[in-house]
Amino acid sequence: MKKIISGENIIKQYGTGGEQRKVLDGVSVDIHEGEFVSVMGPSGSGKSTLMFALSGMDRIDEGLVTFEGKDLASLEDDELADLRRTGMGFVFQQPTLMKNLNILDNIILPSMRGNRRKAAEIAEQARQLMQRVGIAELEKRDITQASGGQLQRAGICRALMSRPRIIFGDEPTGALNLKAAQEIMELLSDINEEGTAVMLVTHDAVIAAKTERIMFMCDGSIVDELRLPRFSGQDIEERMNRVIAKMREIGI
Ligand SMILES: Nc1ncnc2c1ncn2[C@@H]1O[C@H](COP(=O)(O)OP(=O)(O)O)[C@@H](O)[C@H]1O
Ligand SMILES: [Mg+2]
Repeated sequence: MKKIISGENIIKQYGTGGEQRKVLDGVSVDIHEGEFVSVMGPSGSGKSTLMFALSGMDRIDEGLVTFEGKDLASLEDDELADLRRTGMGFVFQQPTLMKNLNILDNIILPSMRGNRRKAAEIAEQARQLMQRVGIAELEKRDITQASGGQLQRAGICRALMSRPRIIFGDEPTGALNLKAAQEIMELLSDINEEGTAVMLVTHDAVIAAKTERIMFMCDGSIVDELRLPRFSGQDIEERMNRVIAKMREIGI
């Protein structure tokens, strides 16, 4: 399988002078086309920082990150922003949506920038995505008139507008109730089935058990990895037990 993203010996440190701390301490990771991976680990272990490093949201101090073979460090800020906008989609715990725009406009807003496509065509694509994720009727709604799960769906639509190669999700279900979280995971699985790679950060073993490769982080390093067959909707118990057993083995 072709690599989409490759990180080699990534070092990221925070602080100055003698106070410097390596938050990523020589992390290497590859993500391939169409993969569904997750990163688990205790709070503060560097999961979000790794995601920011691999997606070029943050510059790294040492090491190499490439996206489809392109060294992110060689890109100017605007080129990097373009690459993120066209090649990657982001979903966070809480979608950052604008209060003064309805849901449809929130979804299409980032696509209106630097885009030669017609507004009507962009809106049509957004409507199709809203239909696809089950929020078609919310088009004209204010964001205060939608549930957390519905807003997260809107966030996913927004992330899919550029037809990204990979979706990054930093605890995308962390703020949702169990049912909404399961629905969002199903949606992400479907998107992945259709060929988009997905990388999730989670501390929830149920979420991680639905992915096919789980990387375990501790103190800025990937200390172990668990590979599972692609999830078919069955045997979640057994998968979860394997994840939990691995966590115990590592001691996280
Ligand atoms: N901008 C920052 N400045 C200083 N320290 C940071 C910054 N971002 C993260 N850190 C520190 O890096 C460590 C890892 O953070 P993070 O990647 O957010 O962990 P996780 O997502 O696994 O909870 C934490 O100790 C955190 O305090
Ligand atoms: Mg985090």
